[in-house]
Amino acid sequence: MSRTLTLVGLESSCDDTAAAVVRLADGRVRVLSSVVVGQSALHAPFGGVVPEIAARAHVEILDHCIERAMAEAGVGFANLDGVVVTAGPGLIGGVLSGVMFAKGIAAARGLPLIGVNHLAGHALTPRLTDDVGFPYLMLLVSGGHCQFLIVHDHDHFERIGGTIDDAPGEAFDKIARLIGLSQPGGPAVDRAALSGDAKRFDLPRPLLDRPGCDMSFSGLKTAMLRARDAVIAANGGLSQQDQADLSASFQEAMADVLEEKSRRALDLYLALSPAEPVFAIAGGVAANSRIRAVLEQLCREKGTRFLAPPLALCTDNAAMIANAGIARMVAGQVDDMTLSARPRWPLDQTAPAQLGSGKKGAKA
Ligand code: KG4
Ligand code: ZN
Repeated sequence: MSRTLTLVGLESSCDDTAAAVVRLADGRVRVLSSVVVGQSALHAPFGGVVPEIAARAHVEILDHCIERAMAEAGVGFANLDGVVVTAGPGLIGGVLSGVMFAKGIAAARGLPLIGVNHLAGHALTPRLTDDVGFPYLMLLVSGGHCQFLIVHDHDHFERIGGTIDDAPGEAFDKIARLIGLSQPGGPAVDRAALSGDAKRFDLPRPLLDRPGCDMSFSGLKTAMLRARDAVIAANGGLSQQDQADLSASFQEAMADVLEEKSRRALDLYLALSPAEPVFAIAGGVAANSRIRAVLEQLCREKGTRFLAPPLALCTDNAAMIANAGIARMVAGQVDDMTLSARPRWPLDQTAPAQLGSGKKGAKA
C-alpha cells in the first residue's frame, strides 16, 4: 500500500502570509486547503514592501492562517504527519517568523519539521497540478525572480540562465508607476496594452545579442522613462492612448526577450531528449496574456507541452511549500530544531551568482 502523508505548510518569505494542508495518498498529492493573506494594503503607503512591517504582520497573522487552513481541510493536529516551512530565500524577518512558528508546532506536537526552499516550491508546482515527469524546463518569472531551471529531481535544479538585474514583475510594477497606472503594475499594463500600439515606441531588447539564457531588464526601464519624458515634453502630459501605447510597446519588448531566451533554454533542455518534454512557467508574470501567448506558440513550434499552473498556485502560496515538503519527507529529508532561516539560498548552488549577488552570496 502506498504511503499517506498529511502536512501543513507555512509561507512567509515576502509579503504574503500563507498556510495550507496537502495530502499524499495513492501516489498523488492533493491540496486540502490553501489560505493566503496578502499585505499589500500595509505596504502601499511606502511604495514597496517594508521588511519590518512584513515580519510583524506575519507574526500577527500566521496562527490565524494555520487555524483557517486546518479548519478548511477538516484536519486537526493529531492528523498531521509533519510541518513544512519556507526556510529561505526571502526577507529574513519574515522567513524567521515562519521558521520559529513551524518549530513551535513541531516541538509542541512532536511532529517532524521540514524546511524547504521557496523557489523549489515554485519549481515543483507543475508536479502538484499535473502529472509531470522529470526532467522538465521551468521559467520562474515573478516580482522577485526570473530564472530558467531544468528540474531533474525534487532536489536537483539546474539553473541555465536568469536575470542579471531586475525581475520582470518588478519592471512591470515600476513602469506602471512611471506612466501613471495602478499597482500591481503587471495586470494594469496587461490591460492597458490591449488597446495600445506595440510598434509606436522603439524599445531595446536587452542581451539578445549575447549568447545564452541570461536576461537584463533595467535598460528597458530607462528606455521607457525616456520615451515617457519625450511624450510629456511634446504634448504636456500622457493621454490614455499614450499610456496604452507605452504599455503595449513595453510588454512586447518583454515578451520578445522572454521568447528568444526561452527558445534557447528549450534547445538546451530538449538536447537532453526528455521522453515527454514539458515547459512550465510559474510566478505572477506567468499571468501576462501576451507573454503566455508567445510562449504557448513557441512550445507548439518545438513540440513541447506548455504548462501554466492556475494563478493561485503560480503566485506565492503555502500549498507549493507543503508539496515540496512532501517530496522531501518521502525522500527521508527531514530537518530538526537546528533548521535555520536563510535569506539567501540559491536553488542551484553550482551556478554562478546572479540576482542580488553580494558579499553574502547569491540571493537566488
Ligand atoms: O509571484 P508573485 O505573486 O509575487 C512575487 O513576486 O513573489 O508576482 C507578483 C508580480 C508583480 O510584480 C505583478 O505586477 C506581476 O507579478 N504580475 C503581472 C501580471 N499579473 C501579475 N505581470 C505582468 N502581467 C500580468 N498580467
Ligand atoms: Zn515566490
